[in-house]
Amino acid sequence: MKTIVVLTGAGMSAESGISTFRDSGGLWDQYNVEDVATPEGFRKNPELVLDFYNKRRRESFGAKPNLGHTGLAAMETDFNVHVITQNVDNLHEKAGSTNVLHLHGELVKVRSVNNPDLIYTLTEDNPDIHIGDKGEDGAQLRPHIVWFGEAVPAIEEAMNIVQKADILVIIGTSLNVYPAAGLINYVKEGTPIYLIDPQEVRTNVQGVHFIRKGASEGVKELRQIVGNSRE
Ligand code: APR
Repeated sequence: MKTIVVLTGAGMSAESGISTFRDSGGLWDQYNVEDVATPEGFRKNPELVLDFYNKRRRESFGAKPNLGHTGLAAMETDFNVHVITQNVDNLHEKAGSTNVLHLHGELVKVRSVNNPDLIYTLTEDNPDIHIGDKGEDGAQLRPHIVWFGEAVPAIEEAMNIVQKADILVIIGTSLNVYPAAGLINYVKEGTPIYLIDPQEVRTNVQGVHFIRKGASEGVKELRQIVGNSRE
């Protein structure tokens, strides 16, 4: 089976009702990144940050995968599909994708501020964390999210996966945020690259096949192009 590696961003979940970051009216129009998505912001006003992610988590629990997510999951019948996502929602998993690597963390998880390995999974009945909620180590819990200025622990694994791609697909990311945006440079020479996005996305890589559509329509077109070639 051929290996398809799919790098996804916020646009993947837009049709599921989840806001993107940099489109007009997106999250970074409504919030100051430094306030809610940096370690400094969390030190300054932890309540604001917890509240921001509580809202995101509730939104994600209530959201359903769209035809883009389910289309990618269905491709597992014919391809070895690896999803590498910058998204912190769990819509790829809800759609049935079995190989999902989260580069920027997961909303459904929280962790001790003192121990990155002490991780808890929240449930829909209990979706929030507050000041005073502590792990077994007695330390405050924080979102299991990679904030700006923090290392991206999964990036090396992601680079290795991208190197194995027979086909690379990029969906719904403005390719503004590194190191995720740099993953495109790790494909083997000659690997076909498809980029699905309704807007123009700039990349320094040559030969990208642009599919100027939303995620649902774009994945449908991708499946028509790559077919079900198992060789
Ligand atoms: N289908 C596909 N793509 C879409 C759709 C849609 N229906 N709607 C919008 N898009 C595209 C936009 O055109 C844009 O190119 O999704 C992209 C979203 O870009 P960003 O908002 O910048 O999101 P992303 O690239 O995922 O951001 C990367 O930045 O702040 C952070 O940590 C956060 O993981 C995030 C990272």
